[in-house]
Amino acid sequence: MLPAADQTSLLDDLIQSEERRFLERAPKAGVFAELASRNLPGGVTSSWQISRPRPVWIDRGQGSKVWDVDGNQYIDYHGGYGAMLAGHAHPAIVAAVTERVRKGTHFSQPTPDVIDVVEELVDRYQQPLWRFGNSGTEATMDAVHLMRAVTGRDYIIKFEGAYHGHHDAAMVSVWNEDGLGPEHRPTPVAAGTGIPQAMVDLTLVATFNDLTLVEGLFQEHPGQVAGVIVEPILQNCGVLIPEDGFISGLREITRRHDALLTFDEVKTGLTVGRGGATRFFDVVPDIVCLAKALGGGLPISAIGGSEEVMGAITDGTYEQVGTFNGNPLSMAAAKAMLTEVMVADTYVHLKGLQAKMRAGAEDVIRRHRLDAHVATAGAKGSVIYSSEPMRTYRDFLRIDGRYAQAAWLYQYNRGVFLPPWGKGEQWLISVQHDTSDIDRYLETLDEFAATIAG
Ligand SMILES: Cc1ncc(COP(=O)(O)O)c(C=O)c1O
Repeated sequence: MLPAADQTSLLDDLIQSEERRFLERAPKAGVFAELASRNLPGGVTSSWQISRPRPVWIDRGQGSKVWDVDGNQYIDYHGGYGAMLAGHAHPAIVAAVTERVRKGTHFSQPTPDVIDVVEELVDRYQQPLWRFGNSGTEATMDAVHLMRAVTGRDYIIKFEGAYHGHHDAAMVSVWNEDGLGPEHRPTPVAAGTGIPQAMVDLTLVATFNDLTLVEGLFQEHPGQVAGVIVEPILQNCGVLIPEDGFISGLREITRRHDALLTFDEVKTGLTVGRGGATRFFDVVPDIVCLAKALGGGLPISAIGGSEEVMGAITDGTYEQVGTFNGNPLSMAAAKAMLTEVMVADTYVHLKGLQAKMRAGAEDVIRRHRLDAHVATAGAKGSVIYSSEPMRTYRDFLRIDGRYAQAAWLYQYNRGVFLPPWGKGEQWLISVQHDTSDIDRYLETLDEFAATIAG
């Protein structure tokens, strides 16, 4: 690669020229952005739809492709932040939802599809009891409430840099880069405004891959920690695979302290494999949280737990509620997803595509001598612009985000749609992607690498 100063100006220039190209390619999106900004704060429906230089406006999706409002076609690796594992308009999902929509879409009472959904979940994630919600945030919020309700303790432990949704207990030490404290002993900090310090104080923060610190936090708060919430493969930081023994170590520590362990499998749940991180690491937590891909593109979440934990719902100690919980459309889609789409052969197909993607990206990195590596987990993966593997969130923070931003723009302008949040996000390969889609990503990566290698 070029000397640091040359690299800096090359990257800045590249981002600028690709931003210009981005705006020129989508004039209609400019009109929508202008109209939307009148009545939608930031011109979008969720703040994470804002991207530089302008939000992407989508018209439709089919299979592995999406089309923007200007008619440009893209291979979709964004997948709606990892939810579209089935790809767009998958025939099984379309059929299930179409049939259901004609029979009514909402009653706030259970419908028979939930029986099949739960049967599959019990088998896959080794948890006997399940409830539903509508988003990952609801799932992890219920998990935290349950850990507190069951143990009668108030503190929880989370890991620095892990995103578990936008409820108060979870909005600690994620995104915010100020006041993080020393690396060996992170200071809990609110992720943004609107989170009372009193809530932040109840969330203890540990470093991913550091079991000693987790044990230390338990010892500093004897009999007061309800449990640990962990995303077993840390995403929202690229892809960060835990070191051997870390996940099983958390199981051992939580048991020893009579505390509970929650796996936030909102991202990993269906994408890593048939039984998510639970089966991948062969560690069974007390609570599993699912969302995103489970609904095949419809909003849904699920929490599964042991008899001990979910018994608190059965006996009314904790009321897990929500008007749209178990919504018939989401249940019909989830049933199709679990019984027709994400079956054994599908995982074999995904594994083949991911192997090709990984080997191809590694080859590009080697040939162009980039300071980068590839990390993958099931259908998800990322080029991480650092030659050293990441162990912690601080390693992630040290990576220059401009590489990922430039790569995102470069791919987007050439018909490959990756998640707009640069270095934090991953590609998702859907079941409807094929080898030509992978080739296209790799060709564009190759061109990008040649450009930044100078
Ligand atoms: C690991 C993880 N947990 C929870 C959430 C929150 O899910 P939602 O956006 O559906 O509320 C996310 C969202 O990106 C996530 O990545």
